[in-house]
Amino acid sequence: MSASGSPPPLPSVDDIERAAAVIRRGGLVGVPTETVYGLAADATSDAAVARIYAAKRRPTFNPLIAHVADRAAADAQAHFTPAARRLADAFWPGPLTLVVRARTDASVCLSARAGLGSVALRWPDHPTMQALIAAAGRPLAAPSANRSGRVSPVSAAHVRDDLGPDVDVVLDSGLCRIGLESTIVACLDGAVRLLRPGGLSRARIEDVLGTELVGVDATEIIAPGALRSHYAPNAPLRLGSVDYGKGEAVLDFGGQMPNAPCRLDLSPTGDLTEAGHNLFAYLRQLDEAKPQIIVVAPIPSTGLGEALNDRLQRAAAPRTGEDGTPRERGMPS
Ligand code: TXA
Ligand code: MG
Repeated sequence: MSASGSPPPLPSVDDIERAAAVIRRGGLVGVPTETVYGLAADATSDAAVARIYAAKRRPTFNPLIAHVADRAAADAQAHFTPAARRLADAFWPGPLTLVVRARTDASVCLSARAGLGSVALRWPDHPTMQALIAAAGRPLAAPSANRSGRVSPVSAAHVRDDLGPDVDVVLDSGLCRIGLESTIVACLDGAVRLLRPGGLSRARIEDVLGTELVGVDATEIIAPGALRSHYAPNAPLRLGSVDYGKGEAVLDFGGQMPNAPCRLDLSPTGDLTEAGHNLFAYLRQLDEAKPQIIVVAPIPSTGLGEALNDRLQRAAAPRTGEDGTPRERGMPS
């Protein structure tokens, strides 16, 4: 599977209209974006947003991204600093989420923002998601469409497997092009901070800003979703290794363990974009073989490698739920 395939199959106008009607009634729609599939609901409705938190089993202190139709819709929600404006000009629509100061008359409801004075906004670059936002006529709150703490979904089947009857409709446009969640950047005061590495590399952002992104103090959880254990398959992970034993599966990169019997290679040619596209799907596939361990080959941290290694480290971290409570292996958190 390559990152640059043919264009995704698009749902029909009727499919989009039916899904928009579900949104307007306060329901939940699984919808593809260029990063991962989202679980979308009306971002202006506390009741609809409550359904997202319940379906994902996500703690309500962890705010959601509001997806907007265009720049004007984003401006209606928040105050953009000059840096935020530059980044939106350069990268929207696309895999960048901007955390900015919410306007007092923002229509994105407080529960979507977990009560914060800021709001996370994204103008996604996917025709199906764009059509759904337009048809619903309002911003859509959409976290990744997995149960909290689990591997993010990059196909409609992943969404159905994880959420089953808790999602009212799933729009299917095949596999997500990027396969890693959006990069989250906070522009709240002078400093521009990287809250979550993702599908847009740090280097491209720093290029536009002309300065380095400020990191986040580890003691300060600004993006509550950036918890240590996250994106976890059932099997434990051993990272940065080229040694495997019996009963162990191998997630390879650039053909470092060519003879492993149970092996998927994120990118035989060592291409980080292709590896990002394949990461979550391959973790799920290897997990289905119920290995004792998934051994992961070393992956460089340049470009999209920063986000890839971030997700792998979270997947390998000691297992706790998003609210910090221990969870049993194999149990959704
Ligand atoms: O690519 C993506 O970003 C996908 C697609 C569906 O758009 N969405 C996604 O959403 O990954 P989610 O909910 O899984 O991650 C959103 C992250 C969380 O870590 C949350 O804590 C952070 O955004 N976030 C949301 N609002 C915030 C705010 N006001 N301040 C800081 N972090 C915020
Ligand atoms: Mg997520």
